[in-house]
Amino acid sequence: MNISGLWALVTGASSGIGWQISEQLAAKECNIIAVSNQAGQLEELKQQLEQSHRVQVVTINQDLAREDAAKSIFDYCQTQKLVVDILVNNAGMLMYGEMVDSAYDTMKSILQLHVTTPALLCRLFGNGMKERRSGFILNVSSISAVMPYPTISVYGPTKAFLRYFTRAIRTELKPYRVHVSCLIPGATDTPLNAPFGADMSFGRKAGIVKGPEFVARAGIRAMFRNRALCIPGILNKIIVLLFPLIPASLISMVNRHRVRKSMNKKEQ
Ligand SMILES: NC(=O)c1ccc[n+]([C@@H]2O[C@H](COP(=O)([O-])OP(=O)(O)OC[C@H]3O[C@@H](n4cnc5c(N)ncnc54)[C@H](OP(=O)(O)O)[C@@H]3O)[C@@H](O)[C@H]2O)c1
Repeated sequence: MNISGLWALVTGASSGIGWQISEQLAAKECNIIAVSNQAGQLEELKQQLEQSHRVQVVTINQDLAREDAAKSIFDYCQTQKLVVDILVNNAGMLMYGEMVDSAYDTMKSILQLHVTTPALLCRLFGNGMKERRSGFILNVSSISAVMPYPTISVYGPTKAFLRYFTRAIRTELKPYRVHVSCLIPGATDTPLNAPFGADMSFGRKAGIVKGPEFVARAGIRAMFRNRALCIPGILNKIIVLLFPLIPASLISMVNRHRVRKSMNKKEQ
């Protein structure tokens, strides 16, 4: 696939999987529109990519959890005459804990970040791809999409939206030669899990946790081979098949135990 000179817009490009996707696309001489809310890291990415590859990098410092995020990115690209042929909706955040106790603004942000903004970016940029009869969209979901479980009650279901939205628009856009794929990473060694104190080093050595470069490579390959779904790693493929079979009664039992334990701890 020759993507030299095309423009790819990557959200969440300042870190982890998004950084790797940007770097690997730039290595194929694809120009990058790197979006996130970390101006310093975006600038670092721009310098690194422009020094190492024959590409242009445009950075957009934007909070993607804002209601007008998708429209303002699209308008900026229109005014700068940047034609986006590859859209990677990758930005995400993790939220852990009981939904009713979560900070209102955090819950609002994750809904916006995983549902509204990526869907509207697909709407805005997908329309031009349809007209040009070419384009690629890669939406980054998660294996948590098959886990409507307590304590990840917002993260998992928002990722499930992305998974099924991708499947539906893939079929809609297929006749117009616009390829839409969904990347479903499992545990990946990136800063995403850091606020929750997760130590990924053992999992990485054991091969359970993947590196962001591996996940990015698998996602890019799947997008250009027009695969519907990409689940990097054998263990993750097994999880996606088996976890939906876990009975709700078992999940409920484990949750009752968790609640009892935390109430006892509070009483002590
Ligand atoms: N790591 C895993 O185990 C794992 C597993 C399954 C799926 N995923 C998914 O993979 C995707 C990439 O995550 P990652 O692991 O690479 O994590 P990461 O290193 O934390 O990268 C997430 C990116 O999204 C950006 N972002 C978050 N909130 C934003 C906002 N409001 N506005 C603009 N940018 C924002 C981050 O910028 P900031 O630095 O400002 O937050 C960062 O650039 C996410 O959608 C995640 O849900 C990850």
